[in-house]
Amino acid sequence: QSFFKPIHGASPPPSTTRTTKITVVGVGNVGMAIAQTILTQNIANEIALVDVNADKLHGEMLDLQHAAAFLPRTKITASVDYSNTVGSDLVIVTAGARQISGESRLNLLQRNLALFSKVIPPLAKQSPESILMIVSNPVDVLTYVAWKLSGFPSNRVIGSGTNLDSSRFRFLIADHLDLNAQDVQAYIVGEHGDSSVALWSSISVGGVPILSFLERQQIAYEKHTLEKIHKAVVDGAYEVISLKGYTSWAIGYSAASLARAILRDQRSIHPVSVLAKGFYGIDGGELFLSLPAQLGRSGVLGVTNVHLTDEETKQLQESAKTILEVQAQLGI
Ligand code: NAI
Ligand code: LAC
Repeated sequence: QSFFKPIHGASPPPSTTRTTKITVVGVGNVGMAIAQTILTQNIANEIALVDVNADKLHGEMLDLQHAAAFLPRTKITASVDYSNTVGSDLVIVTAGARQISGESRLNLLQRNLALFSKVIPPLAKQSPESILMIVSNPVDVLTYVAWKLSGFPSNRVIGSGTNLDSSRFRFLIADHLDLNAQDVQAYIVGEHGDSSVALWSSISVGGVPILSFLERQQIAYEKHTLEKIHKAVVDGAYEVISLKGYTSWAIGYSAASLARAILRDQRSIHPVSVLAKGFYGIDGGELFLSLPAQLGRSGVLGVTNVHLTDEETKQLQESAKTILEVQAQLGI
């Protein structure tokens, strides 16, 4: 006797809806913030969790499953051997060491590079058609490493990049001007880190370029005010890490917004870490850094041609040089 009696005697047809599966590697502060946001925002039908810490992994899976009565129906699995990741549409990698107070993201490279050589190949093997989203730091260099190790085409490998920095930037501008951050269109590009670049010349608020907006509103601003806001973005993570030991909620929302743009084929534009060679005069070698890119179901659909001032172009090329110098030490 089945639980339901089929109506009109017909047995229900097999579900034909295309399900979506996201793997989250690393169930630490960041991985769980991302998983929780994906769940709450109903972005996937299945979430596969992976970690080396078996007890933490199992505990996090159970804890999320226990929220089922309050959330959209989502299958949640866990494994230490990647067996549950087969056929993922999107794989989000947050595994790895995080900065301690005062440490730069680039300082994490050696530790996380070794980890990636163990983590990326099995993920790529289990989900050869998936899109890889790298979050672990230093995210730009590790996205390049994941691209090399996975053998995936570059449109299917992105880093969360300065999507998070741009959110911090939009918050600070909106806070300064008493606006809603969602009405502030502003990009930070380049390295997700100390050499990021604020594209002041292309920032618009409600469709009005910000610099002329400020002039029209007679809101006095000096260059140093704008630079102070960008510095607060660069210092943002260090401040949060010095206070709570890590960052998690903002990156959770940032990565989930990218997951939704991809899996729901939004064709929206986000500053994410992409293979940057050939754009904006960046030609010193193959590297990933953040540029405004259009995202959809097949990953990176294209890089937009935002107008950069000569100064912004110079800063972006400086940022690229920083990453290439670090990459040169990798010998890969
Ligand atoms: P965490 O220490 O809380 O979590 C790291 C997790 O990785 C742990 O659960 C650990 O067991 C797991 N792990 C270690 N080796 C593994 C392996 N071989 N396979 C699978 N899992 C493994 O660290 P947290 O705070 O979650 O940060 C994780 C990473 O994310 C760090 O590199 C951090 O810098 C980065 N991050 C990046 C951001 C961005 O905007 N790109 C923002 C915030 C953090
Ligand atoms: C951030 C660091 C941890 O929160 O990448 O920006």
